[in-house]
Amino acid sequence: MESQIASLQAEADTLVAAISDRASLDAAKIKLLGKQGEITRLSEGMRNVSKEDRPRFGKLLNELRQSVTTALTEKETALATAADSQALSSLDITLPGDHRAAGSIHPLTQLLDKAVRIFRRMGFALAEGPDIEDEWHCFDALNTPADHPARNDQDTFYLPDGRLLRTHTSTVQIRVMESQVPPIRVIAPGAAYRRDEVDATHLAQFTQMEGLYVNRDVSVADLKGTVEYFFRELFGPGTEIRFRPHFFPFTEPSFEVDILSKALGGRWMELAGCGMVDPAVFEAICERRGDRVFDPEQVTGFAFGFGLDRLAMNLIHIPDIRMLVENDLRFLKQF
Ligand code: PHE
Repeated sequence: MESQIASLQAEADTLVAAISDRASLDAAKIKLLGKQGEITRLSEGMRNVSKEDRPRFGKLLNELRQSVTTALTEKETALATAADSQALSSLDITLPGDHRAAGSIHPLTQLLDKAVRIFRRMGFALAEGPDIEDEWHCFDALNTPADHPARNDQDTFYLPDGRLLRTHTSTVQIRVMESQVPPIRVIAPGAAYRRDEVDATHLAQFTQMEGLYVNRDVSVADLKGTVEYFFRELFGPGTEIRFRPHFFPFTEPSFEVDILSKALGGRWMELAGCGMVDPAVFEAICERRGDRVFDPEQVTGFAFGFGLDRLAMNLIHIPDIRMLVENDLRFLKQF
């Protein structure tokens, strides 16, 4: 047995030394270490060895298996290294690389991220709703009756099936109240669409950020504090804004918020609409839900909708809102 082990060791050494590629490596592995390989066969011969001799031969066999395994692993590493350097030999790593221009985040997206961060700090969660809406979510539930001018084809993009492109993100207020219960504190950024004449301050597709807070005892002071805090965080503490009484069907009282705009050369620019959620909106929600968790005798709330494109104009001082959608790299590269 001892001589068999020694001769197998010698045979293995020759075999390993002759390995020149992957195929001969695999063949040697099978021949030596495989289930029906030579070492296994030799181990089976242990059955005929006397009890006293077994430990000694067992040890020798183990050493053989060990040394063959090590030799094969070393060979495998050597083959891989050789293959790598072969692959690299035709490459000149001193050549200059391909230049890939790194893009940057669109100014509107930067603003959106910043705005979301500010509202997150005040405990607002993100909500979303579809761009293609039905009239109920866009108008009826928002106390906007069928004869309201906003429902006119002149102002709204209607689809042939009667659905429409949402004219504001206030639709998300409705969707959130349908599925959640107070206290509710959400913001909902997204696209809105109107058949507006496109000019320096209007786009037919623009970006809004809706906000909704519903709880017990929410007051106009909460609304004003929240909106003012947001603008001060965004534009800096010295920013001048004003609340102007206004009308929206879904809030009462309602306001428009203006900023003293450097982009408009020191004129006031309208940035947002806001107000206290109209009880009629809560009633529409109660009716749809079939419960009274939004009973206007129990809860109050405020809502706001900012035009993010206009905020961007004022933040980065651009005179024309169209620059935000033209994708002129000379413009975008500055941010
Ligand atoms: N949805 C209104 C608009 O698009 C803005 C608004 C939102 C007003 C929420 C009041 C409350 O003009």
